[in-house]
Amino acid sequence: MNVNDFEFIAQLLYQRSGLVITQEKAYLLESRLNPVARKWSLDGFDPLIAALRSNKDERLLVDVTEAMTTNESFFFRDNRPFDQFREIVLPHLLEARAARKQIRIWSAACSSGQEPYTLAMILKEQAAKLSGWKIEIVATDLSTEILNKAKEGLYSQFEVQRGLPIQLLMKYFTQEGEKWRISEEIRKMISYRPFNLLESPAALGTFDVVFCRNVLIYFDQTTKGQVLSRIAQIMPADGYLYLGGAETVLGISESFEVVPGQRGIYRLTNGNANLDRKVG
Ligand SMILES: C[S@@+](CC[C@H](N)C(=O)[O-])C[C@H]1O[C@@H](n2cnc3c(N)ncnc32)[C@H](O)[C@@H]1O
Repeated sequence: MNVNDFEFIAQLLYQRSGLVITQEKAYLLESRLNPVARKWSLDGFDPLIAALRSNKDERLLVDVTEAMTTNESFFFRDNRPFDQFREIVLPHLLEARAARKQIRIWSAACSSGQEPYTLAMILKEQAAKLSGWKIEIVATDLSTEILNKAKEGLYSQFEVQRGLPIQLLMKYFTQEGEKWRISEEIRKMISYRPFNLLESPAALGTFDVVFCRNVLIYFDQTTKGQVLSRIAQIMPADGYLYLGGAETVLGISESFEVVPGQRGIYRLTNGNANLDRKVG
């Protein structure tokens, strides 16, 4: 691949998804885009770049952008954030929202659905405490292809073996051939929508808890800062933001600060979220 082609495709991906692709990762371009070339009956990487340069077919641009996303995810990823959600954040929200009895949660780069389904199962396990409550989980991703997989809720043996406790597998999944399908009662707790984090989320409404995990790592500092300030705008003063284990707001955004004693959970710097007190 020549330097011009590399710069052309890197720029295109940056503009469409925020993905920063460096020269050392150039090999990823060819391995991930060759299947797109085949799908479009193009004879390899160079004709694909030529097609991208000459015709601005939106479907081809979408295929190329989606092919470059990394969709790695698993149930109860890193455990601790979900323990904190169940043990600390949820009890605080139940107290804070007792009058309205409504909580909205956003899984902001949900990939194949393991993150929102994890949240839905945690909530289902607390059903007794949530009777009469309206709990919404909105799950979004840039890639419509991965959203379709999420909506389908069908996972391989390997996927259900990564992080999902066996008793939850038995309770909320049924076996279909070699795969496992999530139950309808869990699936219908989530509404899936395509959404690009480079855009304003205002139309999605406000969210008491936002999971934006393992996606900022693909962006540069400027994009990370912009995404975080847009998220800050759709959170109430006592909302909570979760980032991935390798992600932080430090040095990137002044909108958020870490919740004291709760690594991985952030609150609005000018807000009033407080997880100090014991509740529940
Ligand atoms: C590594 S997965 C993270 C999945 C899940 N949050 C987790 O932690 O397991 C990253 C996801 O971010 C999505 N993504 C990448 N760029 C995006 C953007 N600009 N807007 C929305 N989603 C994006 C990808 O499609 C991918 O599904």
